[in-house]
Amino acid sequence: MNFDRLAAFYPWLETVCDGGVMQRCRTAFLPRTGQCQRALILGEGPGKFLTALLRQQPELHVTCVELSAVMIEQTRQRLRQAGLAASRVTFHQMDALDWTPPAEKFDMVATHFFLDCFRPDQLELLVPRLAASTTPDACWLLADFRVPERGWTRWRARVLLALLYAFFKTTTALSASRLTPPEPLLARAGFRLVDRRLASFGFAHSDLWQRTAS
Ligand SMILES: C[S@@+](CC[C@H](N)C(=O)[O-])C[C@H]1O[C@@H](n2cnc3c(N)ncnc32)[C@H](O)[C@@H]1O
Repeated sequence: MNFDRLAAFYPWLETVCDGGVMQRCRTAFLPRTGQCQRALILGEGPGKFLTALLRQQPELHVTCVELSAVMIEQTRQRLRQAGLAASRVTFHQMDALDWTPPAEKFDMVATHFFLDCFRPDQLELLVPRLAASTTPDACWLLADFRVPERGWTRWRARVLLALLYAFFKTTTALSASRLTPPEPLLARAGFRLVDRRLASFGFAHSDLWQRTAS
């Protein structure tokens, strides 16, 4: 898998294709994370969410696990341009599947348009491992694509997803070929969906999940 090739035109692709929907999904629940102190972001991409997060929460420290060196460089550049200190962010350039979370616990996790990069068997490993690195009151922000239950919006979503997966397979050699709904895995890992917003005729969603005491 190589997301460096995608990085060159990802911001352009996002602007042309969705007119701001993705960023609205990423940031929908930011105002509800004000108490968080240590955040974990997986697959941040070119840094749009991280910039908004650091702007909103001056005390937050963030750990970012991102496979693509080019995406990380774009993020660093975006932070510099925004006048935000990169010292508040620890980057790990590696495959999240190979990453061992540190002993410290995160009270916030963000996976935006990231879990859709994995096959079901990979998510079965990844989600519980990430959940185990969170505090008992942690929240999990998740924005991603989805397939509506019925109607023309369902068919639209299926066509768009087929195109997206074909595109990603060509540019990044992604091994996942379809969307795996992460909800059952999050619920099994002790998280409860407390709020959800839909966008783009139900093709995209933004979730706020909260860890429940076990
Ligand atoms: C579709 S992009 C989403 C980027 C960004 N989070 C967003 O909201 O647009 C997926 C991101 O996850 C990263 N990624 C994909 N697979 C990964 C893996 N196994 N480990 C770490 N990062 C990964 C890619 O490099 C890319 O930056």
